Amino acid sequence: MAVAKRIDGKAKAAELAESITRDTAALLDEYGIKPGLAVIIIGEDPASQVYVRNKKRTAEACGFNSVQHTLAEDVSQADVLQLIDELNNDGAIHGILVQLPLPDHLDEQSITQAVAPSKDVDGFHFVNIGKLTAGHTADAFVPCTPAGCMLMIEDELGRDLSGKNAVIIGRSNIVGKPMAALLLQVNATVTITHSRTKDLPKVVAGADIIIAAVGRPNMVKADWVKPGAVIIDVGINRVEKIIDGEMKMGLTGDVDFDDVSTVAGAVTPVPGGVGPMTITMLMANTLRSARLAAGLEG
Ligand code: GUN
Repeated sequence: MAVAKRIDGKAKAAELAESITRDTAALLDEYGIKPGLAVIIIGEDPASQVYVRNKKRTAEACGFNSVQHTLAEDVSQADVLQLIDELNNDGAIHGILVQLPLPDHLDEQSITQAVAPSKDVDGFHFVNIGKLTAGHTADAFVPCTPAGCMLMIEDELGRDLSGKNAVIIGRSNIVGKPMAALLLQVNATVTITHSRTKDLPKVVAGADIIIAAVGRPNMVKADWVKPGAVIIDVGINRVEKIIDGEMKMGLTGDVDFDDVSTVAGAVTPVPGGVGPMTITMLMANTLRSARLAAGLEG
């Protein structure tokens, strides 16, 4: 018997996008500024192409100037850096995102660090990571996935997580580490687990909040979960599953949704949970960047 609330990330993202669209229209109306988002995609990775298409569609729906640069799989490092430099110096562009993963011959670190911190709407630049880690979120860009997760956690548990145990599964720079910094900032007691963690189910069993971001389909089961826990599933795994009575390729999270729903308090579904929130947070960061550039915030 299912007891958990299904957290509707899609509906929340749509609500936020509406308010971003209104604020974008007001910015254009009052100041003549249109937020500009440039997305660079390199190569043919099919998942990346879907993500980038969704980002472009949402940016346009919000009223942004949305620019996509599609570069060949064998583009040189120098050419990528030159494009980033041009975008860094383009006054109409307020956010720059280089879709990951990159082809193997490119150096991810020097590319992500070439984006000006003031346009780093992904929050991957060391300046933004440093500010987030030090608790200076007022003028940092926070990575979009953790930022979206925090809004959903806040809806369930409020803004102060004093006394709550949060367990993060996965220590990536994109999700696990920034998630820890955000949870700490609101007083949660945070544990980051990873592939070398001993007795993972036992560690997770102590969690009031579980963030699963490992990329292992359906890994988190009901017997790992404390009754009433809030579970945020960041996993996006492509697996064969039964859809409308037929075996098809579909998306599944890192959490066994039906199983944990018998125990948890609230769970995000995949799809329809973290994914749409991530895209909307990218729009929020880009609008904020445009406002900061105009001296309207900060
Ligand atoms: N690939 C998967 N997630 C992300 C993300 O949040 N930002 C970028 N740039 N690439 C990604």
